Amino acid sequence: MDSPPLPTDPAAAEKRAARLREQLHHHNYRYYVLDDPVISDAEYDRLMAELQAIEQAWPELLTPDSPTQRIGAAPREELGTITHRLPMMSLLSIFDDEAARSFERTCRQADEEMDFVAEPKYDGLAVELVYENGVLTVASTRGDGITGEDVTDNVRTIGSVPLRIGGSGQDIPPLLEVRGEVHMRISEFRALNRRRAEQDEPLFANPRNAAAGSLRQLDSSITAVRPLALFAYDVGVVEGREFDTHWQLLQTLKQWGFVVNPEVKLCADADEMIAYHTAMTQRRDELDYEIDGVVFKVNQRPVRELLGTRSRNPRWAVAYKFPSRQETTRVAEIVASVGRLGALTPIAVVDPVQIGGVTVRNVSLHNQDEIDRQDVRIGDTVLIERAGDVIPHLVKVIPEMRDGTEQPYRLPDRCPVCSTEALHVPGQVVIRCPNMSCPAQIEGRLQHFASRGAMDIDGLGEKLAQQLVSEGLVERLPDLYHLTREQLLALDGFADRSTDNLLAAIEASKQTTLGRLLYALSIPLVGQHVAEVLASAFASIEAIRAASADELSEVDQIGPEIAQSVATFFHEPGNSATVDDLLGVGVTLQVPKTTTESVPLEGLTFVFTGILQEYTRQEAQEAVEHLGARATGSVSRKTSYVVAGAEAGSKLEKARSLGLQILTEQQFTALLRKSSGE
Ligand code: IVH
Repeated sequence: MDSPPLPTDPAAAEKRAARLREQLHHHNYRYYVLDDPVISDAEYDRLMAELQAIEQAWPELLTPDSPTQRIGAAPREELGTITHRLPMMSLLSIFDDEAARSFERTCRQADEEMDFVAEPKYDGLAVELVYENGVLTVASTRGDGITGEDVTDNVRTIGSVPLRIGGSGQDIPPLLEVRGEVHMRISEFRALNRRRAEQDEPLFANPRNAAAGSLRQLDSSITAVRPLALFAYDVGVVEGREFDTHWQLLQTLKQWGFVVNPEVKLCADADEMIAYHTAMTQRRDELDYEIDGVVFKVNQRPVRELLGTRSRNPRWAVAYKFPSRQETTRVAEIVASVGRLGALTPIAVVDPVQIGGVTVRNVSLHNQDEIDRQDVRIGDTVLIERAGDVIPHLVKVIPEMRDGTEQPYRLPDRCPVCSTEALHVPGQVVIRCPNMSCPAQIEGRLQHFASRGAMDIDGLGEKLAQQLVSEGLVERLPDLYHLTREQLLALDGFADRSTDNLLAAIEASKQTTLGRLLYALSIPLVGQHVAEVLASAFASIEAIRAASADELSEVDQIGPEIAQSVATFFHEPGNSATVDDLLGVGVTLQVPKTTTESVPLEGLTFVFTGILQEYTRQEAQEAVEHLGARATGSVSRKTSYVVAGAEAGSKLEKARSLGLQILTEQQFTALLRKSSGE
């Protein structure tokens, strides 16, 4: 990236800096608020670098609203406090339709002629942003409503917070206080937690905690890399500007550059407000941000004045809450479950509780580190959360409820199913049962073994794998090659033709490649691509089995964790015997065709969204990884292709708004064919 020469004199520098700031403000607005950028990331970075260089050379030109200030200032001793000019009140919660009607009646006593605005009730953190002559000068949390924490530096790092109010310029109040909710999108929250898990950092329990933890950092450079966003929903003091209605206020906030939620709606009466609540209850899980109810507000601002406030809540607004998604319950016991690849996962068996219409009995505690971090003990009272169709998780232990009888828990040293010694894979938190014939693993391993990218046995899917294992016909993978016609015909749903087809497919699978066999063995961390890399580097199964972790890690693209995982796998005598027996029944490995150089999609990033017909999500991801590309979960400017199946939702929308390449499933298949030289 060539940087342009610095201006030669202060006057030229000032002019250029002002121009760059203007451009960067504009592009921030297009990117964060409109979701519709008009320049590339690289071009944006170039403008930013130029401005930084000028500000470094002429520090007196640095202004608090400069886009460079989003990067984050140095850590401070502690967050100071800010007293709000007008108290930030809370909302009265209501829980049924009758209370919504009663709210309407109370409001109409002040004025018959009025309507309402219904808005989502965001589950984030309320903040107040002070703008003096259009420039953001102070930002604070709600705190106790009277005083909050000073989070100015941190708020400056949030992309959807204007550092300077946009618009025509004439209508900007000398003093403006904007109120809104800082939150983290659910997709961003998941991605953040994935990154934290990779770095072995503690996970955030939910998006709200993640947003709060990120906003209240002492070091704003940490906040800067956390994906926070703001919905504006109200104002405090506004000098020199009156608004007749709340609706008009929201439209003006939008023009000034704030993000106002598009779900806000005008409602004529309680019936319409109740309908809004019903609709949002149903749509809650589609939204990419957490809401815990809806808010109804009187639209006419003068009527608000007439209605006034109670001690802590205004009379002109209420929050109609959704049923809670969190419940407390007791941990009756903790058991270790064994996953498809042998990972031992501690599961808390809890006294059954209803959350959002579903009975929760089991909650995964993930691994020993998580148990230790949360200090979960048998007998503990715990808070459980289940958001939508998401798996329930433990938010926290409530230590105040302990009576001293609670028992700490440790995962066993041996597999609870086959008693093989469980191994700690270096660099990972999980412990695994290394025995690939462990009854807890064989069904899942068999299904994977037969899958398309592995031994490719047509007709052997989840259901048949289940049947073969439960009937005792397959206890180890090589048993598959000893199945007889009679055994298969005795199974539910098998006739002559299907039996012949399956036997033929099993027979045909014996002619395979080293890469496919390695992948089929379900060695932890060995996906299709890694399997091919190993196959090309070693060329024989004997060489791979004999290799030490150090030797394996000398191969390009094979890191120490993968190397250790492969070595540990073959070190287990049962696993090595399985390979011998597979070769013994006639599995034949052709010399690999692909070489490590053949990575036609290298450097590209794919995102899959919606339902694909021909592939599972995993198959599609592995197919691109096999060709050198990466598959990720979230759409960004850096995404090369978004493959959209049926019912694709917000990711597809985002891809469109970023102008990314979108492929149908057919186009994707064609791309794969072309790239793999078919
Ligand atoms: S208006 C007088 N609008 O709810 C209250 N608040 O209980 C003015 N909240 O601390 C606030 N979504 O964090 C308003 N659409 C919305 C909201 C909202 C969430 C939160 C806010 C506030 C709490 C009040």
